[in-house]
Formats: sequence, C-alpha cells, structure tokens
Amino acid sequence: MPRHFLTGAELTAVELGALIDRALEFKAAPLSSDVLHRRSVALIFQRPSTRTRVSFEAGIVELGGHPMVLRTDDLQLTRGESIRDTAYVLSRHVAAIGIRTGPDELVSEFAEHASVPVVNMLTSGHHPCQALADLVTLRETFGGLEGLVVAYVGDGNNVARSLAELGATAGMSVRLASPRGYELAPVASALVTYDLPAAVDGASAIYTDVWVSMNDDPESAAARRRALAPYQLNDRLLDLAAPNAIALHCLPAHPDEEITAQVLYGPRQRIWEQAENRRHAQKALLEFLVSS
Ligand code: CP
Repeated sequence: MPRHFLTGAELTAVELGALIDRALEFKAAPLSSDVLHRRSVALIFQRPSTRTRVSFEAGIVELGGHPMVLRTDDLQLTRGESIRDTAYVLSRHVAAIGIRTGPDELVSEFAEHASVPVVNMLTSGHHPCQALADLVTLRETFGGLEGLVVAYVGDGNNVARSLAELGATAGMSVRLASPRGYELAPVASALVTYDLPAAVDGASAIYTDVWVSMNDDPESAAARRRALAPYQLNDRLLDLAAPNAIALHCLPAHPDEEITAQVLYGPRQRIWEQAENRRHAQKALLEFLVSS
C-alpha cells in the first residue's frame, strides 16, 4: 500500500519531525536529491493556485523529475470517467499524484484506488502541504516546536484546521480565534475561542488567512468582512503577543483587509519565507512518500 498525505494525520510525530529536518536540509542544499530522476508527478488542479503550483513544479524539477500539470479540462473526468479509472491509469505512469479540488471525498476516493502516493494540495477541509511549510517556518524561526504557542485569527477554515492538526502532532499549542459563526468545530487539541486578546496573549506567532476563500459563496463576502473585521492582523494585535512574535499568512493576501500592509511588508512578518518553504517542505514530503 502506498503512503498518502491527505490530512497530515498519516504522519507520526517522529515522521513529521524528520520531514521538517529534511525540508531545512533541502533549503540549504536544494539539489541534494535525485529521488524523482526521470519520473513524473501528476498535479491535478481543479482550483486556481500560484504558490502550490509553482512550488510543486519547481520542487519536482529540483528532485530530477517531471511535473505533469493537469487542469480540470485536460482530463476525461469532465466527461464522466470515474475517479477510480483515472486513479488506475495515472498510477501506471507517474510516481505520485497531487490533487487540488473542493471535496475531501474526491481526494480520499483517488487515494483508495491509486497504487502510488496521493497528496492533498488543498481541499475545502484541509491544506496539509501549507501546514507542513508553516511548521518548517516556525522551526527555522524559533528552533523548536514543542510547546510553541501559535494563534490563528480570523476565518476558521481549511488552513486553520490543518495548522491545528499538524501542530498538535508536533506538540505545539494552537489557539484558534474567530467570531461566532466562523469558528471551527473542535479540532485536535487546539483551543477554539472568541476571545481574541486571550488567544494572542503570549503567542510566538499570529497567523491569518483571507476572509473570503475559494470555496466560499461570493454572496456572503460582505457579511464575512463585517464579522471578521475585529480579527485583523495588525501591529496592535502583534503588540499583545509575545515579544518578537512573528506574523504568518498562507497567501494570497488582501492588504488592509485581514492583514495590514504594514505587517504584510514589515519587519515582524515571516510570510515570504513561509511561501518559499512550501517548496522545501513538499520536496521532503515527496521524497518520503515515493521512498516509503
Ligand atoms: N497558500 C496557497 O495554497 O497558495 P495558492 O492558492 O496560490 O496555491
């Protein structure tokens, strides 16, 4: 059976720690592995992407492989071919399959039938590749993750869920602060709260994401912005966190909406490093999955 990466729950704490170590090795020596030499990785994008696509494509090339990007209209899935048959065929040609889509069930069904590793490149429920890069960024900034307090503020979405789940595996203390109606259901060991100052008190990092995501109903956008406005990541909020606290954002950002431009481009953020770390983290992940 291949190893998959659908939510991040597939990893033990030891495996997660080793992946983070390996990602930082790749950051220091990007061309140090040829594990995908002359092999292809299928990357199915049923949703738009900048970071995920670019970081996977560049990372696969650095590992000696070929990234095969497949958009929705490229596949016979749009004409009724089943996920099962698509998974069977792709498995005969490629070393691994990445999928960005809406329903989590679609990725799970792919994994059920694929004989090569399947990677969740974002679903409405999870974004584990992002969380892996987030943990790499926190490790390189603070030197360790055990006991580290991270506050996620704003919309309780897929990014927040994956941060909570992988953060718990790494021994972090994750707090999720959202307004009523936008909170996550209880997840892993994370604290879910409406109390923003309590959530950020003593936190080493404050993390946010857009208020209107790809899978949200655009008609609800104005109501979302009104409800989430008090949860903006700005310098005043960072001042309530631990000294030297950093700002994180998975991007794309809407400056002066969920995060001020001052923080997004200022000295307290590690956001652009976080975006780069997607590539290093995913290279470590692919190496691990195709070698397991
Ligand atoms: N953070 C993230 O997944 O970015 P993209 O949507 O641009 O891939």
